[in-house]
Amino acid sequence: MPMKPTTQTVLRAAAVLGVAFGLCATALTAADAPNNPIKEAMQKYMKAPKDVDPICKRAGAGQATKEEISGMLAAYKAMAATKPPQGDPAKFAKLCATLVEATAALEKGEAGAAEKFKAAVNCKACHEEFKPKAKK
Ligand code: HEC
Repeated sequence: MPMKPTTQTVLRAAAVLGVAFGLCATALTAADAPNNPIKEAMQKYMKAPKDVDPICKRAGAGQATKEEISGMLAAYKAMAATKPPQGDPAKFAKLCATLVEATAALEKGEAGAAEKFKAAVNCKACHEEFKPKAKK
């Protein structure tokens, strides 16, 4: 017996919803995956245990090793190639590019690089627009 048109419509709608739901689930998993270059850069170079200065702070004070600065540069480059979890991706890319440029200057030991770097590594300026608020 052929299906009634209404049954067909319902089935088709269910299939479309199913696909949409699957896509959402994939996007969520991707955002929370450990290979999130932004979170990696944050955890490795911006954050540090209590009583320890994060690498970005030591870098601004001229106290980071060359290896640390090179690693930080690579991490910021990866971050620059990533879409932020929220906010305008073009604006985020610009902030990241400034940070990458300043870190590269620091690596090369250019004059005034530390000042440039400290300005670019401004947590609040970037977080305000691009870091999701903590869930309550
Ligand atoms: C150029 C942009 C930018 C700058 C500068 C920046 N952050 Fe972030 N930070 C982000 C974004 C975007 C996220 C959210 C990442 C996400 O949730 O996927 C984030 C998240 C974090 C997190 C949470 C990481 C996690 O695992 O969820 C910490 C901690 C952090 N930032 C610390 C800092 C500190 C400290 C500074 C300044 C010294 C700083 N950030 C500067 C963009 C930036």
